[in-house]
Amino acid sequence: MTSLLDTISEIEQSAIGELKSASDQSALEAWHIRYLGRKGKLTQVLRSLAGVANLDERRAGGQRANVAKERLEAAYSEQRSQIEEQRLSSVIAGERLDVTLPGIAVPRGRLHPVTQTMRDVLAAFVSMGFQVAEGPEIEWDHYNFEALRIPAEHPARDMWDTLWIDYEQDGRRPMLMRTHTSPNQIRIMEKTRPPVRVVVPGKCYRFEATDPTHEWMMQQVEGLAVDDGISMADLKGSLTDFARRIFGPERRTAFRCDYFPFVEPGMEMRIDCFICRGEGRLEDGRPCRTCHQTGWIEILGAGMVHPEILENVGYDSGRYTGFAFGLGIERIALLRYGIEDIRHLYANDLRFLEQF
Ligand code: PHE
Repeated sequence: MTSLLDTISEIEQSAIGELKSASDQSALEAWHIRYLGRKGKLTQVLRSLAGVANLDERRAGGQRANVAKERLEAAYSEQRSQIEEQRLSSVIAGERLDVTLPGIAVPRGRLHPVTQTMRDVLAAFVSMGFQVAEGPEIEWDHYNFEALRIPAEHPARDMWDTLWIDYEQDGRRPMLMRTHTSPNQIRIMEKTRPPVRVVVPGKCYRFEATDPTHEWMMQQVEGLAVDDGISMADLKGSLTDFARRIFGPERRTAFRCDYFPFVEPGMEMRIDCFICRGEGRLEDGRPCRTCHQTGWIEILGAGMVHPEILENVGYDSGRYTGFAFGLGIERIALLRYGIEDIRHLYANDLRFLEQF
């Protein structure tokens, strides 16, 4: 008798002890099978009672075993709900969102210095009454050269060696990457009648060695104004006004003769070099590479539209005159921001670009 009740107590105690260390669902189920399953330790004791001859002993043993069974079942469901609670709270802790933590910083972009300059240059001309138009980067030989009075074999073509498109027509290659935005002078005049006041931004391509002021690709703005009685005074006045709007009133400009087959007369406009302040030499006496020691940087070519070109597009050159100009945006960006080498602009180096 004593030994049967003792056995049940021992089973109960060791079961309670083991239950405390069952910390997850599967350990808990294994524990249940071990003690209360069909072949569990306590179940076996209950079964063995049938073989106990003494009725009192059998009854006392049965009662004790049932009490043990109830306690173990109760302890089991208590432990199960604790495990579930812990699991839930750790899931919740893992998913908690602290809205007071700093967010992930998104790097701020900015406009490329050439884009900023392009926009400012166009805005300056728009405020002076010019419209903005665009033309193709892949151009016909006709518009890029022929219609601008630069026939094949003409020495002026040497100024604009370029990249030709691999496309043949009548044994010739008539398409190229445009070398300047000037073809748009023709394209626009073919489509409209005077008065014309237009600026055309765009990329141009030249096959040439790069140096601090030359790149093989560059962006230009072409300008064209055609009307009754437009003179060289209008050209100089408009371009000087433009230079003051972009560089401020203290910047010096200079015009000199230059040759372009599509204007007569032709000229270039220059701005005093920002590196050597127009001296041609640096403070320590070394020659200034940026302006090739001239003290000036050329920013645009210009001139009065050649009368032959006006006639070719059907304008009466006896009545109408006009001026045209083509300026390099990168050069203007160099002058504005004090950049000493044009090649920095397209090197894609963030350490450079972040300074603007
Ligand atoms: N198209 C010329 C160039 O690229 C510049 C220019 C434009 C000159 C218009 C005169 C008139 O060099």
